[in-house]
Amino acid sequence: MTYSFCKTLEELKGEQNSVIIFIEKNQKTLPREARELPEVAQSTIANFLTSSDFKGEVGEMGVVYPGKQRVVLAGIGERKSFDAQSAWKVIATASQYVQNKKQDVFTLILPAWFVSKFKPEPLGVLIAKAIGMGTYHFDQYKTDPERKSLAIKRVALFGVEGRYRRAFERGLTTGQIVADAINHVRDLGNLPPIEMTPTYLAKEAEKLAKQFPKLKVTVLGREEMKKLGMGALLGVAAGSVQPPVFIVLEWMNGAKTKKPIVFVGKGITFDSGGISIKPGEQMDEMKYDMCGAAAVLGAMRVIAATNVKNNVVGLMPTTENLPSGSAYRPGDILRTMGGKTIEVLNTDAEGRLILADALCYAKKYEPRAVVDLATLTGACAFFMGPWHAGLFSDNEDVARRVVGAAKAAGEGVWRLPLLPEHSKLVKSEMADVKNIGGRISGAATAAAFLKEFTSYPWAHLDIAGTAWTWNMKAEPWMRAGATGYGVHLLVELAREWN
Ligand code: BES
Ligand code: MN
Ligand code: ZN
Repeated sequence: MTYSFCKTLEELKGEQNSVIIFIEKNQKTLPREARELPEVAQSTIANFLTSSDFKGEVGEMGVVYPGKQRVVLAGIGERKSFDAQSAWKVIATASQYVQNKKQDVFTLILPAWFVSKFKPEPLGVLIAKAIGMGTYHFDQYKTDPERKSLAIKRVALFGVEGRYRRAFERGLTTGQIVADAINHVRDLGNLPPIEMTPTYLAKEAEKLAKQFPKLKVTVLGREEMKKLGMGALLGVAAGSVQPPVFIVLEWMNGAKTKKPIVFVGKGITFDSGGISIKPGEQMDEMKYDMCGAAAVLGAMRVIAATNVKNNVVGLMPTTENLPSGSAYRPGDILRTMGGKTIEVLNTDAEGRLILADALCYAKKYEPRAVVDLATLTGACAFFMGPWHAGLFSDNEDVARRVVGAAKAAGEGVWRLPLLPEHSKLVKSEMADVKNIGGRISGAATAAAFLKEFTSYPWAHLDIAGTAWTWNMKAEPWMRAGATGYGVHLLVELAREWN
């Protein structure tokens, strides 16, 4: 996809084109920037605003057809509450709306007051990210051409003053890189689990490393895991014929003396629950249980593509969780890489097991900090909904940085309590710790369990509610399926943490 700027809207005349223009709540008169449009468009829009029931609520879309053109009126609500978050949604919604009309070229008209509200570079990022994510589509398994979305070819932007263009263009480039990586992560999530196996994810990591020579990849298999003593990861993997992998991506592009930041992502390519098998309803959504690992991969892709000056490592413990004659069972005791033992009381609490070995592995880097992302608990998702990931940390500095990065990325994060009381709930009578903490505070006891395996500044993000759209519910700004949550957040962390 390419972006261009246009000085006049003359060039739109006669061309089969779509134009998107912002309309404020209860706006009855033509917006100033609409005066650039051909006369016939102006009068059609003016007429529409006075005589239709279009309200201009945020996200509301209207459309008029003056001549050969299509003018999409994108409601933005009150001007004063039109912030980065709502702008993202409106632009994503409007671009998907145009795409659904089978158009792959459009013009976005930006009002001067809107442009001046932001710095040009972050605005460029926001716009490219919104259009890229809003028009994402996963159609590779649909055979009816009518049902396939078009890939957007060209977007012209109107309303960016010449003096802002360079910075704005830098933003567009970055935003496009971020959106492409996010959409890559969404593809990985949406792929059926028969395709998206641990081996497949490892190949993706290897592809990435080939593309960026400074990015180093290591893929550990069963034998190496045995040597390292990763009994928890191997325990979870025991029920599947798919070989597990432990993927390591290293980006050492900062000062030699500087210890890296380590990202850890849960990579369960399908979570059936294992012997403690899940109910059938919506079990299909457990193909998304690798979205933490995919987000780490996506973040490393952006970090490499934008040449971030920092040392960053991504760890992706990856396996299936299936029941079989060779599967691990409730009652088993697993020995982790660090030596600590875990009593398994529920084989469906498998994410924390594979993360335990990854958190032990992270120690070898003497990391400045470790941040893990995991679709870890239904409890967190039910409580937080799709709006925020749960943040757990006993380190104020790391927690503050994660919150800051989430804000910069436009991703929701909300800190939840992590108490010594939660740690008590995962003590085991038979081993050091047990993998479930009882009925209460499920998301926090999972975090408390992870904490047992850390010995460095650390934060945990439970992304169970944010990694995909539950019940396959599509939004006008986000198609159903994986969301790519966490990619941008991790990138902001890596960029800012110096
Ligand atoms: N991957 C699931 C968490 C999950 C469930 C995310 C539903 C999104 C939707 C995780 O492995 C799991 O099964 N967790 C259990 C933990 C329990 C057994 C302590 C859960 O949340 O029910
Ligand atoms: Mn599970
Ligand atoms: Zn799981």
